[in-house]
Amino acid sequence: MQMILFLLSAMLLINASLAQVRVVTELREGWKFSKGSNSEAFRVDFNDKGWQTVSVPHDWAIYGPFDKDIDKQVVAITQNNEKLATEKTGRTGALPYIGEGWYRNSFRLPQLNKGQKAILLFEGAMSEPNVFLNGEKVGEWNYGYNYFYFDITDKLLPGGPNILAVHLKNVGQSSRWYPGAGLYRKVSIIVKNKESIDQWGTYITTPLITPEVAKVNVRTKVSGKGLRLVTDILDAAGNHVASDTAQTIFGNEFEQNIGVAQPKLWSPESPYLYKAVSRLYAGTELKDEVTTRFGIRQISYSPTTGFSLNGKTRKFKGVCLHHDLGPLGAAVNVAALRRQMRILKDMGCDAIRSAHNMPSLEQVELADEMGFLFLAESFDEWARPKVKNGYARFFATDAEKDIVNLVHATRNHPSIVMWSSGNEVPDQHGSEGAKRAKWLQEIFHREDPTRPVTVGMDQVKATMQSGFGALLDIPGLNYRTHLYEEAYKAFPQGILLGSETASTVSSRGVYKFPVEKAAEKQYPDYQSSSYDLEYCSWSNLPEDDFVLQDDKPWVIGEFVWTGFDYLGEPTPYDDKWPSRSSYFGINDLAGLPKDRYYLYRSRWNTNEETLHLLPHWNWPGREGQTTPVFVYTNYDSAELFVNGKSMGVQKKKKNGTPQERYRLMWMDVKYSPGTVKVVAFGKDGKPAAEKTMVTAGSPYQLLLEPDRTTIAADGNDISFVTVSVVDKDGNLCPTAAEQLNLSVKGEGTYRAACNGDATSLELFHLPTMKTFSGKLVVLVQATKGAGPIELTVTGKGLKPGKVLLQSK
Ligand code: GAL
Repeated sequence: MQMILFLLSAMLLINASLAQVRVVTELREGWKFSKGSNSEAFRVDFNDKGWQTVSVPHDWAIYGPFDKDIDKQVVAITQNNEKLATEKTGRTGALPYIGEGWYRNSFRLPQLNKGQKAILLFEGAMSEPNVFLNGEKVGEWNYGYNYFYFDITDKLLPGGPNILAVHLKNVGQSSRWYPGAGLYRKVSIIVKNKESIDQWGTYITTPLITPEVAKVNVRTKVSGKGLRLVTDILDAAGNHVASDTAQTIFGNEFEQNIGVAQPKLWSPESPYLYKAVSRLYAGTELKDEVTTRFGIRQISYSPTTGFSLNGKTRKFKGVCLHHDLGPLGAAVNVAALRRQMRILKDMGCDAIRSAHNMPSLEQVELADEMGFLFLAESFDEWARPKVKNGYARFFATDAEKDIVNLVHATRNHPSIVMWSSGNEVPDQHGSEGAKRAKWLQEIFHREDPTRPVTVGMDQVKATMQSGFGALLDIPGLNYRTHLYEEAYKAFPQGILLGSETASTVSSRGVYKFPVEKAAEKQYPDYQSSSYDLEYCSWSNLPEDDFVLQDDKPWVIGEFVWTGFDYLGEPTPYDDKWPSRSSYFGINDLAGLPKDRYYLYRSRWNTNEETLHLLPHWNWPGREGQTTPVFVYTNYDSAELFVNGKSMGVQKKKKNGTPQERYRLMWMDVKYSPGTVKVVAFGKDGKPAAEKTMVTAGSPYQLLLEPDRTTIAADGNDISFVTVSVVDKDGNLCPTAAEQLNLSVKGEGTYRAACNGDATSLELFHLPTMKTFSGKLVVLVQATKGAGPIELTVTGKGLKPGKVLLQSK
């Protein structure tokens, strides 16, 4: 009975779709996957029955196990000033991403009629995909991060089934971080008329904006003759606000200028989005329909006004992000991205740099909706390699088409306000590199004249000599705070961007003594101190950037390395096993804020109060010893009390050290268990806010806090539940390392857990994990059925925790 119902509804779906001029089918379910070379797997009659069934997006490597020998690199990382080669174990995450893999999918499409065609679109495939349909090769694409498509009209079987097979290959020493593996982004098929709007054929800009009217320029590339294009503009509520019909085609492109009256402008604070509905007609027959979301906003970069959005100068309060989503690996997931962005928003962050490659389309869509300025990057390497098998292998043949696809696929996103053609490319040295920089920049300009291009430069002196830095639209400096002044003078642009800043390292909830500033500091437990005073030989502390941002009008903002920890690059423990993920994050790999989060929040979030105390106050054995207390706050001064006794008032010191200017620090506090209280003073000198921290008792129970209690019953949505080990009174036990068991019942499944410990080799997808600094995060994924979901967390000797979620 169920089967008949299913067939009936499937037929209904197909009939409904036949009436549409364009049908997009995402190939999400029913994929078969196998690792290995399987040289026959492209064949139609290949037997894949024994293969694993997976859904896409999928990352074959995230299930581990972690292994020290995977992609072990005996290298000197020259960008990190290393002279001697050492064994780098966790550099790319120590997860099994290397090797070959195949994905196969059998799908049916309603039979195409003569006037139709089909496009197969990949939004990323890691890496070097070779694509076969019904036994024949359709095409290939080298760069794992890019979006690409093929016309598969001639290879489709009428009525199906069609066998799609994708071969992927990841070679060792091809990355400096965890790249993921497999079909980690969406795959879809677009069936449309031959007479139709081209893939990514719509290009919308807003070249003129006044309070009365915005000029919306719509350029639309089409295939076919004698066509007419009708474009309707809808506001965010779906009301029709303007339209235009174009009859004259220039080559294969229509161009329309449409006036939108009293435009509502897009900004991070007010991310207002319009839609353009493009309908293509032959006579009266509708041939195609495409809806494109866009924003009306104006950007400018100049020596006098810096970066300005809609006429107002502002500085980027940005973070760099790698693409992995911690325990989900590289497999893109909207709920995980949205959670990251909510956390960043609360911090007051308004900008994201997709380091060092094309962002997922989901991420830029969310940036449009939630309000983030976006710096979309393309490459970590050009012609000169950083790693033995990196993108340099493909640069000469692929760089242009990779940029074209990046720009075409994403240029309608108002969030994107700058392109980056490269990050710390070794080509910064010498005149060849300068020529490459110019060549790439001109490709960006040709495809999108509305946005400037930057490069994240670390070889600043070399770029002064070679002309490299001078020719860029926006010179971007990675670190090198000591060279800002010199670069500003040497370069003609009159502005500088902190394209990558800080690279301070810390582990959530871990504090080391004595408390002192140090580069490349290492400890026996392979953690970094959360007093936020440790950095790398090439990098610096957050405040070194704050000083430049605040004192130099010509610095247009910063992108902190990084917003979240990521898999791989476990500096300063690159050669220490089992370190396998980064320490750079403002938030850890589980998305839990480290102390640094509050330091950035105290300056970036200008709407809300920040008052944060560190370290924790559980130091048995440190009684009487010096245990400094730091406060990150937007207030200028505060008084600290330990067990009721005043430790004095601290004030931010404009002329002090950078740390004294932005933090409140009581360096001489002697530890005694009990209560630490901070009272912050307002501008009038009166107490404005206070915060208390106590010494926690022994672990007693588990506290569960979901980020969302209602999730969508779509098989993808995720609730992120933070689990804390607390004492009888509900205080976090800040050093608890308790092995917990995680189980999910009802219309949800246990997807993964993460504790943010960069040295943990526990596998994310197994339903047990140890807490790190008292916490971990459990990812509960919705099924496709609506209903209640229950997560239960237990641990030896602890009162269990339960939380009830709903999927709808
Ligand atoms: C930069 C580089 C990043 C990352 C970072 C770590 O030089 O661009 O990818 O390696 O250093 O500090």
